[in-house]
Amino acid sequence: MSIQYNEVSREFHLYNDSISYVIKILRNGQLGNLYYGQKLRHRESFGHLLQGELRSLAAYVFENDYELSLQHTKQEYPSYGTTDFRYPAFEIKQENGSRITQFEYLSHTIFPGKKKLAGLPATYVEEPEEAETLEIRLYDALIDAELILSYTIFREGPILTRQARFINCGAKNLVLTRALSLCVDLPDDDFEMVNLAGAWSRERHVVTGRLKQGVQGIYSLRGASSAEHNPFLALKRPTTGENSGEAYGFSFVYSGNFLAQAEVDTHHSTRLLMGIHPDGFEWPLGPGSDFQTPEAVMVYSDSGLNGMSQTYHRLYRTRLARGRWRDQVRPILINNWEATSFHFDEAKILGIARTAKELGIELFVLDDGWFGARNNDRAGLGDWSVNLEKLPNGIQGLASKIEEIGMKFGLWFEPEMVNKDSDLYKAHPDWIIQTPGRAASPSRNQYVLDFSRREVVDEIYRQMSTVLREASISYVKWDMNRYITECYSATAPASDQGMVFHKYILGVYDLYDRLTAEFPDILFESCSSGGARFDPGILYYAPQTWTSDDTDAVERLKIQYGTSFVYPLSSMGAHVSEVPNQQLGRVTPLETRANVAYFGAFGYELDLNHLTDQEREVVRRQIDFAKRHRELIQKGTFYRLLSPFEGNATGWIVVSEDKSEALAGYYQVLNGVNEGWKRLKLAGLSEEINYMMNDDPNRAHYGDELMNAGIVIRKEELCGGGGDFTSALYYLKKV
Ligand code: DGJ
Repeated sequence: MSIQYNEVSREFHLYNDSISYVIKILRNGQLGNLYYGQKLRHRESFGHLLQGELRSLAAYVFENDYELSLQHTKQEYPSYGTTDFRYPAFEIKQENGSRITQFEYLSHTIFPGKKKLAGLPATYVEEPEEAETLEIRLYDALIDAELILSYTIFREGPILTRQARFINCGAKNLVLTRALSLCVDLPDDDFEMVNLAGAWSRERHVVTGRLKQGVQGIYSLRGASSAEHNPFLALKRPTTGENSGEAYGFSFVYSGNFLAQAEVDTHHSTRLLMGIHPDGFEWPLGPGSDFQTPEAVMVYSDSGLNGMSQTYHRLYRTRLARGRWRDQVRPILINNWEATSFHFDEAKILGIARTAKELGIELFVLDDGWFGARNNDRAGLGDWSVNLEKLPNGIQGLASKIEEIGMKFGLWFEPEMVNKDSDLYKAHPDWIIQTPGRAASPSRNQYVLDFSRREVVDEIYRQMSTVLREASISYVKWDMNRYITECYSATAPASDQGMVFHKYILGVYDLYDRLTAEFPDILFESCSSGGARFDPGILYYAPQTWTSDDTDAVERLKIQYGTSFVYPLSSMGAHVSEVPNQQLGRVTPLETRANVAYFGAFGYELDLNHLTDQEREVVRRQIDFAKRHRELIQKGTFYRLLSPFEGNATGWIVVSEDKSEALAGYYQVLNGVNEGWKRLKLAGLSEEINYMMNDDPNRAHYGDELMNAGIVIRKEELCGGGGDFTSALYYLKKV
């Protein structure tokens, strides 16, 4: 890994064993990009890659010089309004109304390691040798402002992280109206854009489309990263598949409004932009103040989409997620939400917990309904003290009883929200996000607390930390069940209203920071009506997220498959629930429900006491299986094999680092009559290893056979002997 600067060619070459990224200081002092992709042999200059020629209608930087038109130059962090008419990476409004800037190279530093971003989540290193960072300082003399562009290249893996910081060094007021985290200009447009789109209960479905001239992109203006679009986008070659070909991944370490877009210009160059959505964003940059963008993480793969995803998985599992739970196997949990919703008492909860313990479950999670006047979704949010009618012994009493049974205890909160029917709202009606003189739109009968205000976050911290201190709580589920409307903060001046969306997210991060610091042993699971805030920003604080409210095994195939484009299996909460499924009424076999949920942070979400004795025996075996294989599932390398978006069958496999064991899943949605032969070709195994299948000493196959000839799918091996919604697991162990 190295970052080289050549003083003569004025070029930076960032490279490791897999990638190269080349930046050039252009003749006008701005930064151009010469290359990003597969590693290149280092040389003194790559200046010949700079293209420029006389073109009609182009505007040029210098007089009588027809080479430097920014419109035709691949740039690092472009501004608008000089000679480039494409969408810019940033924009600064000045006192005289001008938005034109000219940031020129001033100096740079290269240092081992990676700095922390104050108040923001980001990838990190544990030893300085793991990465190297380049900070380039640019300066605009007219407005007396600095721009610092940071690039970190990791030693292992094709990973580059980016962020930008603006500093107003002068005496005049500036306003940032756009401050994205990255721009990448690529020299051609032979790409397909891949993104993860959806809605509540069908989050992160994979969408692929050919790039075309113009702008195409995804975004959120909902105040959360959202179920509708995930802050991730990849550009892949049309021929790129799961295991071969080029792909460029872009992932945004942020949980609020975002924009990710690709713009193909008339000369077939592609500009990729990613950052905080500029709509509704306006950040006053008074004299002496600065603004830090969140981080964006770029991954290049020459081994297809699986290669890209595996790089993200490793990075996010080991160098984004933090704390005690990062490397620890996750407890198998039971959550009472689908079993009881708001209607429970202590006896009911203990009844489920006893059966759960008896079957081997390790953690009981008490979901919504334990606090305030919370008997339905119209009341209680904001009042984080126990409802003694339901739980007369308090949370403390219940937690001790659960621990006496032999399980850990976890608790649900929705910290950012309030119902009007609550003590908190009655005391502080002005604490919600609401525009003066306008109605505040309800959603699930609740309102968003103004987390851009310190005193609001302080009060919620006070309430939550009191509960967490008083009872023995090992896990917290942090839910968030509505988006932000009528965004406005009651105490902020008019000039600061454009800060509210971002300051809100900073408030969320601040509360997470305080709670995770004070309670380092608690496992935090994030949730947002399922997966409406499943993003890398949250992963920094909570190592797992409830993937979706949709617990139907067939729907989950798509959701978990799509989620795996960026996020590791260890981050995906996945539970076995009852049938008919509560979201869509489908009846799937108990085996298939577990066979899907194993490939995540595994648990149950149903009333175990409603199962037959026979079903309970199946569950007991499932839990035993999950315990035996969870280390492999959480830390192994995951490969997608068959896509649920392309056919009736889904396949995937997770392989241990030393390749001595693996677990593959095969899932068939609908049964067919007189169908063709089926095989599942595996990936990631060692060709040289002979693997015993499903602990059967009479079945052993070398990895080369399993990957090239594949496993013959036999109906009798599918659960229930075949049929609709059936599945099979293949556990492979080195003989
Ligand atoms: C939405 C979550 O996604 C569910 O799991 C559950 O916690 C409910 N909220 C409770 O209100």
